[in-house]
Amino acid sequence: MKAVRVGLLGFGVVGGGTVAVLTRNAHEIARRAGRGIEIVKILTRDPGKRRAQAVPEGLITTDAAMILDDPTIEVVVETMGGIEPARSYILAAIAKGKHVVTANKALIATAGNEIFAAARARGVVVAFEAAVAGGIPIIKAIREGLAGNRIRGVAGIINGTCNYILTEMREHGTEFATALAQAQELGYAEADPHFDVDGIDAAHKLTILAAIAFGIPLAFAQVHIEGIRDLESADIAYAAELGYRVKHIGIARRVSDGIELRVHPVLIPHKRLIANVDGVMNAILVSGDAVGSTLFYGPGAGAEPTGSAVVADIIDVVRTLTTDPELRVPHLAFQPDALSDGPILGMADVTTACYLRCEAEDRPGVLADITRILADLGISIEAILQKPPEPGAHTVPVILLTHGVREAQIDEAIARIAALSAVTGKIRRLRVESFA
Ligand code: NDP
Ligand code: HSE
Repeated sequence: MKAVRVGLLGFGVVGGGTVAVLTRNAHEIARRAGRGIEIVKILTRDPGKRRAQAVPEGLITTDAAMILDDPTIEVVVETMGGIEPARSYILAAIAKGKHVVTANKALIATAGNEIFAAARARGVVVAFEAAVAGGIPIIKAIREGLAGNRIRGVAGIINGTCNYILTEMREHGTEFATALAQAQELGYAEADPHFDVDGIDAAHKLTILAAIAFGIPLAFAQVHIEGIRDLESADIAYAAELGYRVKHIGIARRVSDGIELRVHPVLIPHKRLIANVDGVMNAILVSGDAVGSTLFYGPGAGAEPTGSAVVADIIDVVRTLTTDPELRVPHLAFQPDALSDGPILGMADVTTACYLRCEAEDRPGVLADITRILADLGISIEAILQKPPEPGAHTVPVILLTHGVREAQIDEAIARIAALSAVTGKIRRLRVESFA
């Protein structure tokens, strides 16, 4: 049987990793797919750039039409990133009846509903395993392996760059900017690293996970997003003293009155497996009513780990080339006419335990004033830590851990504590998740 001809859009970190894996494991891959898989054209911006992977002369082009208009190319792999022109190229490929594999979570999270509708209408596959958690096959696991479950929640470390930075800060005292530069050098970060450190990339991935876990449309605009830019090393150190690690986490959870969709730093008890996932590694907890709790762990970014996921998708597509489109696994796990629109909760309605840190004057009654505010609002305290003053300082750090509290209540408490004359500066707040 003739090899399947593939066009690659983008030849950077992920495109290079994809070519490396396809080349090195060509024989194994053909044995799995039932046919050879051949990259016949690669689109780049700069044809003269030095690449990690050497490819035969003539393979590189700067003209997308060489791929999109070539009727012999059956599969288009998009590893360019960004919204445009990636979106237009993918829609053009679909319109020509080509199957698509993409690593582009920003595109799937924000334009996936449109792309999947176009793919369904044309009877082609759009596969996106590499879009979430790099090398971990989490899409397949949730969409197929756990298809018998009512999923209760998905929570995970889903941005390798943030996890790498937090690990470097905690273990080596590395400055934020230095750790970010290292992550960029290692090929983990997005073209615009603001997407990583401000939580947007994790929110893109959470959007996709929530859709396939709960059978809801992709709802990126409804994710609450916070990044790690404002984290202070003092909070990482105090959290450690209290027995916690600070991680950047995406959480999609069914609760009684809706679905929580949120991305932010959290304190996790250091004994939990997920608290010990370090560096670029990702880990995703999936809880289902039948299976209970499962944890998926692996590299969340980088050339070959992500290439591994892209190639798995290409093999899947090749295997289904002759399948009736109606019999394929639905793009978003649930049949398109069975998607539901459960209410997505605003943050004010989310309940979590909290970590608070403020600077307060070290005199009688101040701590009592703070705890009285919490008591008046019905907020129960789990732990209090008062640290000695820094040399020359007139205030001391006061750290509090609360039990579970609605976000609206803790916002009110923070406002009242900040208004105390004995309290200075900004009150730091982090959420706490036990993942018990
Ligand atoms: P890179 O910046 O390393 O590579 C992008 C590639 O696309 C480059 O080869 C670039 O060409 C090409 N390209 C970009 N825009 C155009 C354009 N308009 N026309 C033609 N070619 C273009 O990005 P990554 O490989 O890191 O990321 C690619 C995608 O994979 C993104 O969607 C990212 O979110 C996703 N991803 C990345 C992971 C990672 O670990 N890096 C992990 C999982 C997903 P040229 O080289 O000539 O500049
Ligand atoms: N920039 C992303 C990360 C790449 O650091 O997780 C993998 O999606």
